[in-house]
Amino acid sequence: MPVVAIIGAQWGDEGKGKVVDMLAEKSSMVVRFAGGDNAGHTVINPMGLFKLHLIPSGIFYPNVTCVIGNGVVVNPRSLIAELDMLAGKGVDTRRLVISDRAHLIMPYHTLLDELEEKSRGKKAIGTTLRGIGPAFTDKTARMGIRVGDLLDKRSLKHRIKTVLENKNVILERIYGAPPLDCEEMYAEYAGYADKLKPFIKDSVELISSAMERQELVLLEGAQGAMLDPDFGTYPFATSSSPLSGNASLGSGVAPNRIDRVLGIYKAYCTRVGSGPLPTELNDEMGDRIREVAQEFGTTTGRPRRCGWFDGVAARFSAHVNGFTGAVITRVDVFDNFPSLKVCVAYRIGEKEISYFPSSISELEKCQPVYEELPGWQADTTGVRKWEDLPKEARNYVTRLSQLMGCPVNLASIGPERAQTIEVSPIF
Ligand code: GDP
Ligand code: IMO
Ligand code: MG
Repeated sequence: MPVVAIIGAQWGDEGKGKVVDMLAEKSSMVVRFAGGDNAGHTVINPMGLFKLHLIPSGIFYPNVTCVIGNGVVVNPRSLIAELDMLAGKGVDTRRLVISDRAHLIMPYHTLLDELEEKSRGKKAIGTTLRGIGPAFTDKTARMGIRVGDLLDKRSLKHRIKTVLENKNVILERIYGAPPLDCEEMYAEYAGYADKLKPFIKDSVELISSAMERQELVLLEGAQGAMLDPDFGTYPFATSSSPLSGNASLGSGVAPNRIDRVLGIYKAYCTRVGSGPLPTELNDEMGDRIREVAQEFGTTTGRPRRCGWFDGVAARFSAHVNGFTGAVITRVDVFDNFPSLKVCVAYRIGEKEISYFPSSISELEKCQPVYEELPGWQADTTGVRKWEDLPKEARNYVTRLSQLMGCPVNLASIGPERAQTIEVSPIF
């Protein structure tokens, strides 16, 4: 059985959690490869409703090993809270593995995230304030502390002491904030080490042996392609790559061993935080989508900005990710809309363009060129077969597929596992 990467194709919150929970039934392993607890993946299944931030969405199956891969930054405090939450709801978490190569989010990371955001003033990115940017910065700057460091307390203490010497200068001199105490931090993290020790392993071997046994391995993405630091709306981006290329780097699965790349798209667009969203609807229609779809952030509870499906961004995303297929989620949100718009190009002044600009100032000038499609005005939430979907709904999904330039494998018509329609086979 192959390796399948599941990738957020827009600005995050496309429904990756739902798709992974559904596909994990046939898999033996789910590996999260990017981001940290900035992610919020909602899963609704017979065990209940769950909002996962770090633990892969395959945790509900007793036969699935869930790996927090080397490409993730781990806040041990939120991970332990998540483990407790799952245990409280009767979910067995013993099959969790945390890569010893993953980096730790430390108290100065969350503090610096907050101070940096404040100092940006009106230009704030609207981060989740989880310390993600500062933690990935330290990884690249070779100042990070890794999950594996928790296993050797003497070296952990030494590492905290060395890094704090630098961080305290920044906190005090740049931000006028009080310094952090090494002993206190060490005691806190030594406590986490005791709790997390049984889960910490070298995950590369584990994943490759599942692949050798021909088992299905899912690589679970976080965030979405348009938040990518290279190809997204930089600097309004996150700090690790949500793209399929990083599914390889963040898990240790070589690029040529990834058999399928599934792009998860919503039937429209949303974004939390600042930065361009070319099809954003600052009107009653935007409010209506937000209300019907209950578009509020899973991690921060912030209202999500809503807009029509952006075919230009969608095609760009399919291209840079190499999607072999797509999943369109939340089709049911449009069940009561008389007509729908999709953006097929951008207009800048008199000029029409079909590429996604790299510069923010150019993106801000882009006016969407819309095509209007008829709605279906029927309840799709109980439909299970493609041919039973109203003709207009099939036409809508087919049009999105043309715009993305890749086949649609699944359409989702509700948040539950069973509310999924096969449009074309994934394999
Ligand atoms: P993720 O971050 O990509 O996992 O997505 P989130 O969990 O942040 O947001 C997706 C939201 O859409 C969640 O509340 C899901 O329960 C919900 N959802 C997923 N698929 C569907 C669908 O097809 N229809 C509806 N109505 N809701 C869905
Ligand atoms: P999932 O996995 C939506 C956004 C933040 C902010 C920007 C940078 O649930 O799809 P960060 O805290 O990462 O430094 O914030 O990225 N963001 C997300 N938006 N879904 C997510 O994850 C996100 N993770 C980060 O809102 O605009
Ligand atoms: Mg989310």
